[in-house]
Amino acid sequence: MKITIVGTGYVGLVTGACFSDAGHEVMCVDNNEKKIEMLLKGEMPIYEPGLDEIVERNVKAGRLKFSTSIAEGTKFAKVIFIAVGTPPGVGGEANLTYVEQVGREVAENMTDYHLLVEKSTVPAKTSEHLKRTMRKYLKADVDFDVASNPEFLREGTAIVDATHPDRIVVGVESARAGDLLEEIYKPILAAGGGQFLRMNVTSAELTKHASNSFLALKISYINAVARICEMAGADVEQVAKGMGLDPRIGPRFLHAGVGYGGSCFPKDVDAFVRLSDAVGYDFKLLKEVQQINKSQREFVMQKIKRELWVVQDKKIAIFGLAFKPETDDVREAPSLYFVPALQEMKAKVVAWDPIAEGKFREALPDVPLETSQDLYECATGADLVLVLTEWDAVKNIDLAKLKSVMTTPVMIDGRNAFDPATVRAAGFTYHSVGRA
Ligand code: UDX
Ligand code: UDX
Repeated sequence: MKITIVGTGYVGLVTGACFSDAGHEVMCVDNNEKKIEMLLKGEMPIYEPGLDEIVERNVKAGRLKFSTSIAEGTKFAKVIFIAVGTPPGVGGEANLTYVEQVGREVAENMTDYHLLVEKSTVPAKTSEHLKRTMRKYLKADVDFDVASNPEFLREGTAIVDATHPDRIVVGVESARAGDLLEEIYKPILAAGGGQFLRMNVTSAELTKHASNSFLALKISYINAVARICEMAGADVEQVAKGMGLDPRIGPRFLHAGVGYGGSCFPKDVDAFVRLSDAVGYDFKLLKEVQQINKSQREFVMQKIKRELWVVQDKKIAIFGLAFKPETDDVREAPSLYFVPALQEMKAKVVAWDPIAEGKFREALPDVPLETSQDLYECATGADLVLVLTEWDAVKNIDLAKLKSVMTTPVMIDGRNAFDPATVRAAGFTYHSVGRA
């Protein structure tokens, strides 16, 4: 089937590439000409393991095309996925400007039935606003549907998540829309397993917020337990292990640390809190999840201050600028808090990240930051190393060599990436999260 995807970001490009790899004919549209130019040259505007091979293979096979024109995309296919950004607005609620823009342009160009699919994470009830908007801009008297098909992709494993989904959730108002989406996902579900779930549109929109908020809740829960472990003299990693063996709890997303970041959890939890307020429910539980997450960074910062006593003129090496390993995405990354905060205290900061340096500089253009692509060079002369992402290169570092280049062997491990006994045996003063 022919499919158009509008928005070639982390989600749109991965989704489009995987649809074409499943045999569909896909046109990816983006209003960022630079991105489209890169894609037409076979260059990836984002880092996602395995994406470049899939894109190259399907462009060659003629199943994957790129364009900057929504009009062209509307003519190309009757199913159009909206995967444009829904960044947090000024007050924190999702900014739906771009979603509305796509709906308007598609409506102006439609000459026959189309199905618009919300792939971007949008607050519940967005589909009603989108339908109303499209009706205003329709030029021809044609029928259309709006559906919700939330994405559950994790950056760094998005290809695996897209080709081996646990579930495909679609929110539809007509059998026709449901059947079209079922046909699109049939080859993916056949190859990768997973269930196809049809429900009403608002339920599908809510499923995404409820899922992401639950995962964020799990992380804030174990981060709160980590605080108690430190006060009580327990080890949160052991506690998490003990909890996780209960299949009702499960071991994943019970990893204590400096808190969650990324383009989804912070935004989705915030949007869910606002949506709840809007429908008249005060979601205190989620507000506490946000509070715990925000305080985690300060909690780790206190460890740095306690260890150094005087931060001014000290050299601090930061391992990890992205919000997690295997991605170049720095949205809501802990580094966006620590780098400016430590520089404000007049510390000298040098950072290491294999792929996120460019995105960091884009995010904080006014923050001068010295970086190094070599961990030991980055840590040379450092009074303290702050670990913010658990890249394998960091976890497998040669601790003796690291110690030899540092002024004082001190490590604050914000991701519990190391075993305390091993690091201390290597002669380090070592602090982590939740391990007394
Ligand atoms: C986006 C949403 O932010 C997220 O909430 C949702 O779950 C999935 O889609 P992401 O792909 O990470 O996530 O967004 P981003 O990387 O910002 O990509 C959005 C793309 O849309 C960008 O390439 C941007 O150029 C493009 N875009 C934006 C358009 O093509 N048209 C617009 O009007 C606005
Ligand atoms: C998340 C959801 O996992 C995915 O289903 C959704 O579609 C988009 O948002 P992503 O944000 O890419 O994916 O990364 P994820 O691996 O979920 O990690 C999110 C954040 O939580 C990271 O900052 C990570 O460091 C943190 N995290 C994760 C923890 O602090 N502890 C954990 O145990 C797991």
